[in-house]
Amino acid sequence: MTHATPQPGLAIVRTVAEVRDRLGAWRAQGLRIALVPTMGFLHEGHLSLVRLGATVAEKVVASLFVNPTQFAPSEDFAAYPRDEARDAALLAGAGCHLLYAPGVEEMYPPGFATSVSVSGVTTPLEGAARPTHFGGVATIVAKLLAQCRPDAAIFGEKDYQQLLVIRRLVRDLDLEVHVLGAPTVRDADGLALSSRNAYLTAAERAIAGHLNLALRRAAEAIASGEAVAAAEARGVEALARAGFGEIDYFECRGADDLRRMGPGPVNGDARILAAARLGRARLIDNWPVERTPR
Ligand code: PAJ
Repeated sequence: MTHATPQPGLAIVRTVAEVRDRLGAWRAQGLRIALVPTMGFLHEGHLSLVRLGATVAEKVVASLFVNPTQFAPSEDFAAYPRDEARDAALLAGAGCHLLYAPGVEEMYPPGFATSVSVSGVTTPLEGAARPTHFGGVATIVAKLLAQCRPDAAIFGEKDYQQLLVIRRLVRDLDLEVHVLGAPTVRDADGLALSSRNAYLTAAERAIAGHLNLALRRAAEAIASGEAVAAAEARGVEALARAGFGEIDYFECRGADDLRRMGPGPVNGDARILAAARLGRARLIDNWPVERTPR
């Protein structure tokens, strides 16, 4: 891993003790703190979370930690793109005040034996496709919240199920933090920005926008009364036709609890969520079922 040279205006800390010191000093001055957890290789989506943080707190801290426990052994932990120097420069430009970039040994020292497990909302969709994923996410996010004790923590709607898992975790453990969800930042063709888009070849990138297109079409159809099962089936077909590989799911679910909808017209707030492979990448996205979608 390449370590960044400090950017003007952006300090980097790497230990729990240092991050506690820095944030403790701010807290003692009565300054509110927003935390933006990330795995780095940052893009405009991450930077939008930093900017949102700056609207609700005086100080914004971003964490950069590629968390090994949320990757299964067969997944892309080793290949996950990393560029800390670039990330530090982007964060400084977006108005971030502190980068917390601990190493694996700092987060998981020898003897580490605890995991945080959220049930229910973790079961379908990503939880079915990646059974150990949300345990790793919940554990690392609980640690980051305990280490930083922020007033607000910002997460993207891009990872919609993750956002619901973290809301559940914070409620269930009585953590004193406001969890804020931020809208998904997209390229012009609708593709949600993602660090993993770096895996796409030019030919795959030309196809990738179809994921968002299929979600929007299904959301419109369901919003205007079409049966859920039919809209889902058409979504799967559209992705296969566009050239996607394995389609893990394309499902309309309850927006708050991910309960199954259908097979008929929806009742209540709904969201369509999908995950599909395209070459080396596994893309995920989601879209609300409403008359004026975001
Ligand atoms: P990562 O994939 O780096 O994403 C960090 C945050 O950025 C998440 O809250 C994610 O939802 C948000 N994000 C990603 N792409 C976005 C986009 N196009 N628009 C808006 N927000 C976007 O998610 C993780 O890291 C990890 O699981 C983490 C929460 C850091 C725990 O390890």
